Amino acid sequence: MDSLRIGLIGTGSVVREIYQHLYFHSDYSHQLRIAAAADPNPESLAGFCDAHGIPPERRFTDFREMLAKVELDAVQVNTPDSLHAAPTLAALAKGLDVVVPKPLSDTIKSAHAMIQAARTGGRLIGVDYHKRDDPRIREAAGRVRAGAYGTFQAAVVYMLDKLLVADPNHEPRFFASPDFAAKNSPISFLTVHMADALLHIVGLRPVRVRAAGWRQKLPSLQPVPVNGWDLCDTEIVFENGAAAHLLTGWHLPNSAHATTVQSARLIFSDGLLDLGLDTPGCREIIAGGIFERNPLFRNFEAGGRVSGYGISRPGDLYRRILAHRNGDLSAAAYAAYMDPLETGFWTTVICEAAESSLRAAPLSATGAAAGESVEVRGLLRRELGSAAASYLTMAGA
Ligand SMILES: NC(=O)c1ccc[n+]([C@@H]2O[C@H](COP(=O)([O-])OP(=O)(O)OC[C@H]3O[C@@H](n4cnc5c(N)ncnc54)[C@H](O)[C@@H]3O)[C@@H](O)[C@H]2O)c1
Repeated sequence: MDSLRIGLIGTGSVVREIYQHLYFHSDYSHQLRIAAAADPNPESLAGFCDAHGIPPERRFTDFREMLAKVELDAVQVNTPDSLHAAPTLAALAKGLDVVVPKPLSDTIKSAHAMIQAARTGGRLIGVDYHKRDDPRIREAAGRVRAGAYGTFQAAVVYMLDKLLVADPNHEPRFFASPDFAAKNSPISFLTVHMADALLHIVGLRPVRVRAAGWRQKLPSLQPVPVNGWDLCDTEIVFENGAAAHLLTGWHLPNSAHATTVQSARLIFSDGLLDLGLDTPGCREIIAGGIFERNPLFRNFEAGGRVSGYGISRPGDLYRRILAHRNGDLSAAAYAAYMDPLETGFWTTVICEAAESSLRAAPLSATGAAAGESVEVRGLLRRELGSAAASYLTMAGA
């Protein structure tokens, strides 16, 4: 086959902002045929299907009906994090391959179930952590893993959004629901990206995770206050004893030079690496201020082609699936694509550990909380029982 018949499960914001460009205006589009879409939200479903000519008989409010009625090769599960597992398991049971946006899932248990089901059926799950395709992250991973700077010792990583991302009083509202920043945290929304990028650069597994958080700005918002975290610090200790702090939040003044202000400094036994991720070199001075654009992520080219690592990462996941369905993937490549680091399993472990550390921490009168360390080995054993052993062996923990 030279193209994949794809069923979309969820047609919300991430499809509008990223994936519709992949499906219809990218170098990958000729290999992707959007055969059907399912979403219980009629506006979301009609908005996508009307714009892209998906006929009424291929629109579904229930993904199970879509899986039963339409011949597909793969699905993309674009549902909220906590709803990735059920559609993925249903699609795998039908012999389909699956792409999910980050994260693989929000819990260790469901992430494990998804990986196991894919392995049992010999199918692929690809998780779209697009930062892995950012040329700066790729270069860093290549150099670090080749030992260019010696032994990894420590890192400080920042990812801070403008307040408008979390503020339901801002017009237009960034997220549809006013309680987004109360129901989600900077850990689930932002740390997840940076933890995955860092894991990818250093190629090490986490052994201990602790989180701290601050709630000072969001509760003061008017007229709608938000009962959520402004800022979180996730401390990760790796299997070689290195430590990293990942500071993520969404309370920077809206005058910030980028929607997401982000950078990283990594320190090694023989050197240091700085990643200025929010200064990609495309700066504009306009009436509203001075802003950094990131064409590396999503590049709207003259002529309508959309490129960038936001497109190439999921595009490559589909190329893997196409090769696999054509019988062109070697056993070694399949094993590499289903490795726990590659499928994002360890990133889910870090985020669940950080969330549980923070959840158990008492909040001080000043709105600060400092959680206790969570041992990854114990957490995996509690969540997975005897199945934890395979991951712990791989982690050398
Ligand atoms: N790659 C990235 O940087 C990036 C960016 C944003 C979101 N995401 C991820 O993409 C996923 C979706 O996020 P979003 O921002 O598009 O959320 P969203 O709320 O805008 O859209 C989710 C859609 O899923 C639909 N849905 C819910 N339950 C469903 C079900 N059972 N079957 C089919 N559809 C269902 C909802 O109706 C909604 O239209 C999340 O996992 C999120 O973390 C990734």
